Amino acid sequence: MKNYVLGAVSTVALMSASVAVAEPQAEVLHWWTSGGEARSVAVLQQEFADNGGTWTDMPVAGGGGDAAMSALRARVLSGNAPTAVQLKGPAIQEWYEEGVLADISAVAEEQGWADVLPASIAGHMQCDGTWCAAPVNVHRVDWIWANADVLEANGIEMPTSWEEFNAAAEALQASGIIPLAHGGQAWQDATVFEAVALGILGPEGFHKAFVELDQETLTSDEMVAVFDQMRVMRGFVDPNFPGRDWNLATAMVMNGEAAFQIMGDWAKGEFLAAGLVPGEDFLCASTPGDGFLYNVDSFAMFAVDGEDRQAGQALLAELIVGPSFQEVFNLNKGSIPARTDVSLDAFDSCAILSAEDMAASSENGSLLPSYAHGMALRGAQSGAITDVVTAHFNSEMSSQEAVEQLAAAIANSL
Ligand code: BGC
Repeated sequence: MKNYVLGAVSTVALMSASVAVAEPQAEVLHWWTSGGEARSVAVLQQEFADNGGTWTDMPVAGGGGDAAMSALRARVLSGNAPTAVQLKGPAIQEWYEEGVLADISAVAEEQGWADVLPASIAGHMQCDGTWCAAPVNVHRVDWIWANADVLEANGIEMPTSWEEFNAAAEALQASGIIPLAHGGQAWQDATVFEAVALGILGPEGFHKAFVELDQETLTSDEMVAVFDQMRVMRGFVDPNFPGRDWNLATAMVMNGEAAFQIMGDWAKGEFLAAGLVPGEDFLCASTPGDGFLYNVDSFAMFAVDGEDRQAGQALLAELIVGPSFQEVFNLNKGSIPARTDVSLDAFDSCAILSAEDMAASSENGSLLPSYAHGMALRGAQSGAITDVVTAHFNSEMSSQEAVEQLAAAIANSL
């Protein structure tokens, strides 16, 4: 017993000696490069520096993170993984299965993450019972943003059904306003598609299609109607949409060139960074229909050598889930905190609506993972869906052909 106690004490002494000399370092791979995003990640950089950390930034531009994920693959394959990576949803599990993630359970347990995170979020952060990622926020994807003056000048209310949306868009188009600000990038097509799909299929149908990959739902008349609506939406975007970044589409709504954008609430981060006020300059509403599509940003730590880098990982994980970061970061980012114990007093009406709708949808079973933002499916399946969505949006493909391709692509990807 005596020996055991002595042994334990000397281990602790050794550990604190090494912690004392370790200078937290982190090379952080992320895709937060737009105005609102950069403002948000700066909060983490500042907190890390304030706590003695040295941050090496590895931003990889490209909304939705496709380019960042390619960069990550290249780094891991070359045996030189970054210390911390913006990673989310099933991709966390996919990397865990490759055996390349660090276990951050010690920090999670010490900080009591299980007590402050909703079970639905905690589930994404755990791999085989260990903690393998730290959640930053909850973004909602199924939002519609509007320029308040443009709507008022044209006598248009925020649409509450897709029929109303189409009628409003036609009226705006007739007045020379671009109804829908959109960037023709596959992930943006997928973002609009999943909002339309949630509205038309309903939460249960969405779950069947994009979580269960149920062939009957994928080829149903309702899915044909989803593609029909996408064809209508295609008529509401301007000719210069191909390749446009999402934040430039948001800017079109800000300056009144366009009326609406369908985009997750990182778009609100852009409005806020430009000094605009929700409810006055711009409006937010959930896209027509029931349900809530969540997209939780998180960071995973990759297994790396070196006490400094490991200390950096522990510090980052602790700060990310810490209450002060969760508040300040999310005020900038447009999302709401992942922690349930952060006061929303400082948050705006769109964030409050998001939190209320999230709680209600969690109660009634309509809280759903976003497929377009990598929360619902593994990469092969979500990629297969997006390929069809974007091929349909950018061609004359019929809705019937699209559902057939969708079903075939899913069957091939399994
Ligand atoms: C991420 C957001 C990011 C957005 C645009 C989403 O997938 O979750 O954090 O702002 O992509 O890049």
